[in-house]
Amino acid sequence: MLRSLAGLLPPGPASVLVGGRGEQAAVLAARLAAALEGRVRVCSDGGDGGAPWDVVIWARTATAATAATAGHGGEDQADIVIDMHDPDWPVIRRVAAPLAARGPWYLTETRAFFGCRAATWDAKFGDDLPAYAAAIAQAGIAAGGVVIDLGCGTGRALPSLRQAVGPDGSVIAVDVTPEMLSQARPASRRARAALVLADARRLPFATASADAIFAAGLINHLPDAEAGFRELARVTRPGGLLVLFHPAGRAALAARHGRALSADEPLAAGPLRRSTQATGWRLTAYDDAASRFFAVAVRQQSGLGGLSPRGGGQAAASATRGPPSWRSNRWESRSRTR
Ligand SMILES: C[S@@+](CC[C@H](N)C(=O)[O-])C[C@H]1O[C@@H](n2cnc3c(N)ncnc32)[C@H](O)[C@@H]1O
Repeated sequence: MLRSLAGLLPPGPASVLVGGRGEQAAVLAARLAAALEGRVRVCSDGGDGGAPWDVVIWARTATAATAATAGHGGEDQADIVIDMHDPDWPVIRRVAAPLAARGPWYLTETRAFFGCRAATWDAKFGDDLPAYAAAIAQAGIAAGGVVIDLGCGTGRALPSLRQAVGPDGSVIAVDVTPEMLSQARPASRRARAALVLADARRLPFATASADAIFAAGLINHLPDAEAGFRELARVTRPGGLLVLFHPAGRAALAARHGRALSADEPLAAGPLRRSTQATGWRLTAYDDAASRFFAVAVRQQSGLGGLSPRGGGQAAASATRGPPSWRSNRWESRSRTR
């Protein structure tokens, strides 16, 4: 993780603030400083109040109980969020758009995170299968078409997707983590689904070739959700469906991860409506209940040429957020250095 993190930082001398609650922020700051051998000035929160920061990192450490009452503090405004729930396995959870394109961090982190969880995934989450079946039945995926299970994991949705498209349809299961695809092999055989190792951000499929995309638990793992929706719009035919699902609602999932809900998360109602609309979709269903997250968007007729440029939406969103009071110098410093 430290190597991925180092690759995200600006190449020359830079200043980095590590914020967060508890001791973990200080521990992370010390480890990062050691790994970077003095190239970067690293402080933990409160260590150097008025300095201008090039990069702000947030160490997410709150337990579910404290997150519910503590609000999200500096996490929403940080450039990089590191999930430190498992101190032995810290993982980069979010990177702001201006940094996200740097280095190979995304694939390295994603594969490391999911690769070691693949073998026990079904044992841990197997009880959720009826919820997948119900969501897919409700989504209205038409028989006879091509459906892509994007971020398919161990293939838990494949039987229901095969049932939806029927014997004449095609089911394609895509994941970027090889260990997940290995685990998905038995389910894919039973569902007569093709397995494809690919990144959802650059799919190896022709424009307008899919009738529906099912994505369970994927969008929160993309570094730029809006850019992701744009790529999904490219491969989906006009009138085709995007079905977003998770067998727990946003609040329940945030509590499980020990963080507070944020109104500007990609799957919050407002941001999701805006980002899907900006990328060629129309949101037609949104249900963020305790027991599930379920949203459906329909691919609009408009050509891809009418869509906003790659990454533009998120950059604009972060530009309008404005500086947080606890590190007000930083944005001026950034505009000088980038
Ligand atoms: C939370 S798991 C969900 C797995 C499965 N959909 C399920 O519901 O059981 C997220 C999955 O998305 C995959 N993933 C993450 N980023 C991806 C990307 N950019 N392209 C394709 N798959 C990705 C991970 O490897 C992982 O298998």
